[in-house]
Amino acid sequence: MNVILVGPPGAGKGTQAERLQKTYGLKHLSTGDMLRAEVAAGSQIGRQAKAIMDRGELVPDEILIRMIGERIGQPDAAKGFLLDGFPRTVAQAQALDTMLAGRKQKLDHVIQLVVNNDAMVERISGRFSCKKCGAGYHDSFKKTKKPGVCNVCGSTEFVRRPDDKPETVRTRLEAYDKQTAPLLPYYRARGVLREVEGMAAIDEVTAKLGKVLGAA
Ligand code: AP5
Repeated sequence: MNVILVGPPGAGKGTQAERLQKTYGLKHLSTGDMLRAEVAAGSQIGRQAKAIMDRGELVPDEILIRMIGERIGQPDAAKGFLLDGFPRTVAQAQALDTMLAGRKQKLDHVIQLVVNNDAMVERISGRFSCKKCGAGYHDSFKKTKKPGVCNVCGSTEFVRRPDDKPETVRTRLEAYDKQTAPLLPYYRARGVLREVEGMAAIDEVTAKLGKVLGAA
């Protein structure tokens, strides 16, 4: 099964993809995570992408299309993938269609997490993650069980993303409305778009996604 999660910054794509990956055995592919790994490695792509990401704008299509084209062909994605953050423009969606047709694969579901953009600034500015294992948390909505200690690995060091400042989040939301929202009619016309209410609590959203995807 091949699935895309679409939604503005903070909609919960990454949170839900981590859960669905475990339940359905799909490979979670986050282009944001891939780009941040390139930035951390100081690669040529990372050097090109860093300033653009820090401004909250979209990295050029050709970089993302090449990156995903190489990634979905790897063995760990052969049983199905869960795309989080790609495609983000109609040009990326068209390139994905061509890649999948070339592999005789198809898209099963494109799921839109429907949220209120105004609430996303609060969600994102409260987000932090464990520096050691990457487990994600939120100041109000997903706290660590013991204050200041990662639930997963016990580390006491946490990080916040440089593009999670409120003014940058607003630029990211504008980029979503202008460049990514046109994907919705694109996929609706192909009959693969499903809508899931994303303003509910995290567990409830997971349950609703499970209804769309069917039994694991
Ligand atoms: P990327 O990393 O993809 O960021 P994003 O789309 O802006 O998404 P986020 O990770 O901010 O949000 P999310 O929906 O995953 O929410 P999360 O689950 O973390 O991209 C970063 C940058 O990379 C882009 O700006 C761009 O520059 C570049 N880029 C990446 N892909 C690209 C592409 N294809 N083309 C061009 N450029 C690209 O949740 C957020 C917080 O809310 C968390 O703290 C979570 O705990 C909490 N939360 C989640 N769900 C709920 C809920 N239901 N209720 C309460 N809290 C919740």
